[in-house]
Amino acid sequence: MNTPTEDADRATTRPSEHALAKKLFIQTYGCQMNVYDSARMADVLAPHGFATTETAADADVVVLNTCHIREKASEKVYSELGRLRLMREERRAAGDDVVLAVGGCVAQAEGEEMTRRAPFVDIVFGPQTYHRLPEMVAKASEAREAGAFGAGVVATEFPPESKFDSLPQPSKQSSAPASPSAFLSVQEGCDKFCTFCVVPYTRGAEFSRPVAKVLDEARALVARGTVEVTLLGQNVNAYHGEGPDGRPWSLARLIRAVAGIDGVARIRYTTSHPRDMDDDLIAAHGEVPALMPYLHLPVQSGSDRVLAAMNRRYTAGDYRRVIDKLRAARPDIALASDFIVGFPGESDREFEDTLALVRAVGYAQAYAFKYSARPGTPAAELDDAIPEAVKSERLNVLQQLLADLSLDFNKRSVGTTVPVLLDRRGRHLGQLGGRTPYMQAIHVAVGNVAPHGAETHVRITGAFAHSVEGVLAEAAL
Ligand code: 5AD
Ligand code: SF4
Repeated sequence: MNTPTEDADRATTRPSEHALAKKLFIQTYGCQMNVYDSARMADVLAPHGFATTETAADADVVVLNTCHIREKASEKVYSELGRLRLMREERRAAGDDVVLAVGGCVAQAEGEEMTRRAPFVDIVFGPQTYHRLPEMVAKASEAREAGAFGAGVVATEFPPESKFDSLPQPSKQSSAPASPSAFLSVQEGCDKFCTFCVVPYTRGAEFSRPVAKVLDEARALVARGTVEVTLLGQNVNAYHGEGPDGRPWSLARLIRAVAGIDGVARIRYTTSHPRDMDDDLIAAHGEVPALMPYLHLPVQSGSDRVLAAMNRRYTAGDYRRVIDKLRAARPDIALASDFIVGFPGESDREFEDTLALVRAVGYAQAYAFKYSARPGTPAAELDDAIPEAVKSERLNVLQQLLADLSLDFNKRSVGTTVPVLLDRRGRHLGQLGGRTPYMQAIHVAVGNVAPHGAETHVRITGAFAHSVEGVLAEAAL
């Protein structure tokens, strides 16, 4: 029954059995949770001889780790699959072959249906079964060698064992440096059932990892060079993992424990639900220096009627009170949100309520989306769809307001000096990129300095709607 666990055990204890590296290409769509999952998929397959590669063209196994959250995200998968099918035909004509696998939330939602719509796909697997990838890949490779058009391996159940128990410890996997800023999944799934959202169906019921497992993974990351840890969950502030004392711990308590690990300089968490923003967590924003002054707290709408129809279970007033408390605890906190425009039945007046809330809160950053009906969700059954042209118009108006507000926020930061992890290339030659504590994307003029993981003091010298620019603080003096 439990073969995947055996695979994972083998993974952690006999790493170098297969000397000849096979190549794995993973294309990731969607949220940070998918970024985390893709890294773990690579971890799971590494002991089976797979090294990651940058292109599909030379890969032995191609994985699309998909997102189902909005219609556009799912459509991308089928068009990418069309391209991969052609690539495979060309490679087969040249005597070569490739295993095609689709994972993530589109795979979970479509299951068997995907093998009918795209029969050339070899493996369809969901977010809760990827610890079984070695076994699935082996099966698919055998089928391909036997000449199958598509291997038809489907694993979209919610297995009784948690994948987390079967995944190899990243630290045992490799001593290769980890990213200076790393994701750590602490909570998954959702029991909130907002009426527009597929997550409770694709990721399953809410589940929190035990505290000890989270702390072990954080220590392993720090040992490999990580200084910023982002705790991830679909509903991360509903975290209630089992503590070492056998009792459930809140996210606030977990954050304080992670902050106690030597070498953790910065902590973030995402994504949160306003209803689970308890006083303890709000207090942590004022008390834990490593907790960054930024919070992504999606409100979705400023209209109480729309919020009720979305089953968000708070009013705009409740949300405003949470924001006030957060600002009292940490006055400089930068706030971000998500918005959906054109939810069924949304009137002009209700859309105005959203604009009013946005102005009142004054977001540093935010994302706005046109509502798209997701099959199987309660809102998809509602009448009163908003015409596409109205949705587009509202999206434009909201995005313009949000861009103005983030430009204001960014302008106010000009002249300040902030610690930045310069861990990526910048926009232009001679620049490095990173994030300020307030989550602003920043591009810094550095000359020939290479990306590195240490915090560097940067003086902000210029502001745009979606980023700021700066110079090394010494140079600014
Ligand atoms: N239509 C449009 N936007 C959606 N989101 C989630 N489901 C939908 C949908 N059906 C948005 C929400 C959520 C973000 C991740 O995606 O704003 O917070
Ligand atoms: Fe989706 Fe709502 Fe759960 Fe967020 S809280 S994942 S929007 S159902």
